[in-house]
Amino acid sequence: MIKIEEMTLQDFEKIKDILQHEFDEFWKPSILKSELENELSKYIVAKRNEEIVGFAGIIILPDDVEITNIVTKKSERKKGIGKLLLDKLIEMAKQTEKECISLEVNEKNIPAINLYKTSGFEEVGIRKKYYNGIDNAIIMTKNFNIHF
Ligand SMILES: CC(C)(COP(=O)(O)OP(=O)(O)OC[C@H]1O[C@@H](n2cnc3c(N)ncnc32)[C@H](O)[C@@H]1OP(=O)(O)O)[C@@H](O)C(=O)NCCC(=O)NCCS
Repeated sequence: MIKIEEMTLQDFEKIKDILQHEFDEFWKPSILKSELENELSKYIVAKRNEEIVGFAGIIILPDDVEITNIVTKKSERKKGIGKLLLDKLIEMAKQTEKECISLEVNEKNIPAINLYKTSGFEEVGIRKKYYNGIDNAIIMTKNFNIHF
């Protein structure tokens, strides 16, 4: 069974040396550590027994909540862990009473785009050549306030 908990610095110590090899090569340990120390950010981990199998985070901005990353351990993908993490981030974002949750994703990252779409995110814009001056970013948003 997978449990979702707040990410601690001890959790960071457990994954920092395998972060880029076993989780996500684009997410450097120094960036994750500074995110954990940022009081506007909130990070969660997915654990099976005591093994960390995924993590994800948000940053709370004046107008909305942004997802900074969501990562499943490479050997654990396609088992529903990303969806569990995303559902928890949405729940946390709703509690802040902001209007929406949003994110940027590489237009070539089909697994992530599909994950966000299954949870009700919509494509609302594009940032051209956002990644490495080459790939476009898609901006996706899920609004919480539905007016009838
Ligand atoms: C994106 C990511 C977090 C998905 O994690 P996961 O645990 O494998 O996802 P889940 O098993 O919960 O899948 C949920 C949905 O995502 C989509 N999805 C996940 N992997 C997919 C793949 N390889 N191809 C297409 N769609 C995929 C599907 O819609 C899936 O629903 P389904 O299983 O009913 O088809 C994972 O691929 C990852 O860590 N990628 C590297 C980091 C990254 O790019 N993060 C996003 C940054 S914006």
